[in-house]
Amino acid sequence: MTPTPPDSTHEHFRGTRCLVTGGAGFIGSHLARTLASAGAEVRVLDDLSSGDPSNLDGIDASLTRASILDAAALKDATQSCDFVFHHAAMVSVPESVGDPEGCLRINIVGTQRVLEAAKDAGVRRVTIASSAAVYGDEPSLPSKETDPTDCRSPYAAGKASGETLASAFSHCYGLSTVSLRYFNIFGPRQDPTSPYAAVISAFADRLIRGVQPTINGDGSQTRDFTPVDNVVHANLLAASHKGDHKGTVCNIGTGRSISLLDLLDAMGSALGVDVDPAFGPPRPGDVMHSRADITKAASAIGYTPIKSFEDGIAETLAWAKQAAI
Ligand SMILES: NC(=O)c1ccc[n+]([C@@H]2O[C@H](COP(=O)([O-])OP(=O)(O)OC[C@H]3O[C@@H](n4cnc5c(N)ncnc54)[C@H](O)[C@@H]3O)[C@@H](O)[C@H]2O)c1
Repeated sequence: MTPTPPDSTHEHFRGTRCLVTGGAGFIGSHLARTLASAGAEVRVLDDLSSGDPSNLDGIDASLTRASILDAAALKDATQSCDFVFHHAAMVSVPESVGDPEGCLRINIVGTQRVLEAAKDAGVRRVTIASSAAVYGDEPSLPSKETDPTDCRSPYAAGKASGETLASAFSHCYGLSTVSLRYFNIFGPRQDPTSPYAAVISAFADRLIRGVQPTINGDGSQTRDFTPVDNVVHANLLAASHKGDHKGTVCNIGTGRSISLLDLLDAMGSALGVDVDPAFGPPRPGDVMHSRADITKAASAIGYTPIKSFEDGIAETLAWAKQAAI
């Protein structure tokens, strides 16, 4: 595995106060860990609906168990904060299809409350975790931020609304915001046990336990699988960038697409096992193909990926083997 180079953005966060909503979850905990190691005072606000406090083991971060719908808890958590990294959300497309009202409450009203609290506290910048789901089955790939959105699930609609709210708060109240459209993020600590588990953590868990993995659909669907270190790096860049960001939106991916069949082959070869998947029905709301154009992320916040797909897979499998012991 190629070592990840030291991240020059870290110095911007030494001595700052940072709030990570959803910081007990997969991506949020990686971000909290990096901010703490960069010398920031890290606060996490998470209702633990899908996150786990053990994701924060061994780091110096204060955890408040509360919902982003709780304005009083948000007021406390944002007091004297320099940066807010908003990651709390209902994260599953199928769950959002089953409970649209719950999804829109958390992902739209919740985002509005986070922005409101950040504005009142005079936060320097808010970064928002958005999603490639907003592109839907947009036929022109790679997807560019100028492409029309095509929201095919309440989850996607909630993420698109979160971006527009962030832009509105920037223009009405002068709160600096950047929304990052994540493609398919993977890495250590991604929960393989949830019924909505992301595909790489679910495949890793099954392959390591010798259980046949199931592909939803025929496996020809493609994704821009992105190691989580790239997303952490993008958040640090977005928060510390000197530009005048008022609702900037950037894709965060690798710019490369991989089919589910090729993904399983790569994981099988890395583990030295033969893979013979079962095939199930496609999941409602899923799109066929997805790949990021990352040109704007490079020009707007200076982003280029710092970890390759192959290194990310090796690291994730090493973690999954350890977690299975
Ligand atoms: N993982 C991906 O591939 C991906 C892709 C696109 C976007 N995103 C976005 O990135 C963010 C983080 O996703 P993740 O993959 O780490 O998921 P995750 O489920 O591990 O993390 C989400 C966290 O939010 C918390 N949470 C949920 N509802 C809450 C509420 N009402 N109040 C407070 N906390 C709440 C959960 O307990 C959890 O800790 C989400 O906003 C998600 O939509 C993720």
